[in-house]
Amino acid sequence: LVDSSIYRPLVHLTPPVGWMNDPNGLFYDSSESTYHVYYQYNPNDTIWGLPLYWGHATSDDLLTWDHHAPAIGPENDDEGIYSGSIVIDYDNTSGFFDDSTRPEQRIVAIYTNNLPDVETQDIAYSTDGGYTFEKYENNPVIDVNSTQFRDPKVIWYEETEQWVMTVAKSQEYKIQIYTSDNLKDWSLASNFSTKGYVGYQYECPGLFEATIENPKSGDPEKKWVMVLAINPGSPLGGSINEYFVGDFNGTEFIPDDDATRFMDTGKDFYAFQAFFNAPENRSIGVAWSSNWQYSNQVPDPDGYRSSMSSIREYTLRYVSTNPESEQLILCQKPFFVNETDLKVVEEYKVSNSSLTVDHTFGSSFANSNTTGLLDFNMTFTVNGTTDVTQKDSVTFELRIKSNQSDEAIALGYDYNNEQFYINRATESYFQRTNQFFQERWSTYVQPLTITESGDKQYQLYGLVDNNILELYFNDGAFTSTNTFFLEKGKPSNVDIVASSSKEAYHRGPAD
Ligand code: FRU
Repeated sequence: LVDSSIYRPLVHLTPPVGWMNDPNGLFYDSSESTYHVYYQYNPNDTIWGLPLYWGHATSDDLLTWDHHAPAIGPENDDEGIYSGSIVIDYDNTSGFFDDSTRPEQRIVAIYTNNLPDVETQDIAYSTDGGYTFEKYENNPVIDVNSTQFRDPKVIWYEETEQWVMTVAKSQEYKIQIYTSDNLKDWSLASNFSTKGYVGYQYECPGLFEATIENPKSGDPEKKWVMVLAINPGSPLGGSINEYFVGDFNGTEFIPDDDATRFMDTGKDFYAFQAFFNAPENRSIGVAWSSNWQYSNQVPDPDGYRSSMSSIREYTLRYVSTNPESEQLILCQKPFFVNETDLKVVEEYKVSNSSLTVDHTFGSSFANSNTTGLLDFNMTFTVNGTTDVTQKDSVTFELRIKSNQSDEAIALGYDYNNEQFYINRATESYFQRTNQFFQERWSTYVQPLTITESGDKQYQLYGLVDNNILELYFNDGAFTSTNTFFLEKGKPSNVDIVASSSKEAYHRGPAD
């Protein structure tokens, strides 16, 4: 029998009981040094269903979470408070506040009210720091008589001193941009439509600014990023998040190019939302770590389903696979992790004519061999001169497993196709009961660092938290986030199989 807490991550946010999907209403209360995360919440079951609430958790370190009563709920049981965002109305443009509410806590939520025959955009305000909300008496604030119109994300645009909303006309493949002076009266400013990988419908659009790490002369300090979630229709199956980099002038978003870029190359990263604000104006955000393809079916022995990704910090970076094809891409790292704090547990190097693996089994966390929470760092160099016949005989696999069994999920490198792959299919319960987990799929990644001798180099930071694996390649230039369900124990080891003789190198934290 499965220990009921076996899958529950420790630092990733999970609901105490019940069902969780999209992150909502993310903001930082600087007067209390507290982060607030709301989420799509069904407290009555471990599957998605109505009535749907905004669940609520707070944290001061983004690793440990306090749970609170649902913050906003529907009027009737066949309705849902769907996804949306929160802004801090410092200057009381809405008129909801008076001097008794300090500016940092003038909190207004903008969300979709899902009724049986319509989706409208509604607002509610809080005068107690975001714990309870009062709905606006003249809701809705936008009603276009549509059943597929949702997920308002509102930002403050400094130059025009206006509120700006992105909202999805889901099945028309349209992100609509509305503007407002007071959060109550909105006017349509523009449409951003049929861009990128359209899938079946658009959900959870959003705009945020990110700093360019390595600007070219003439570049602004920051550029705008438009995010967009599509479901179903991901090339990997199910749901996926994509993004565009470009300019925004207060009414219109102009992408730099038409390229489709995915935020994360794994299967469990959806409905990303950026925080309204963060300390030092940093750009941080979080996604739901599941996939609509199977989210309602994964094991739920502990009475809950789904978690969030780690809270991540976002920057833009020019990267190139060769000097002619530079791209400005979104880079990510866990907001709370300082890789230099990694306490080294084991260090070694594996090397042959085809590859070198420099592996540091570190840990930023205590008791990683029993808690299921561990992280690691490695550099992996593929010898550019290795010929194809020789490549065939080389294996490289990272196996994430418990020290009680050989059941593992594998991260490997396929030399012939120059792709990483993840194999979540194990001999476990999950493989036996869920067809879709048997797939073996590749994360399509470009070699982002090529050394002078033609070697391809990958740096990898990995974070394992019971049933979620987050991979950050090349300082976060691409990531892959995937959940998994080992039946026979919490993950405690990362074994490396890397050699031409298929010799296994077992390394884990000291017992
Ligand atoms: C995305 C989504 C949103 C909607 C919410 C409902 O995962 O479908 O479009 O607001 O979930 O829970």
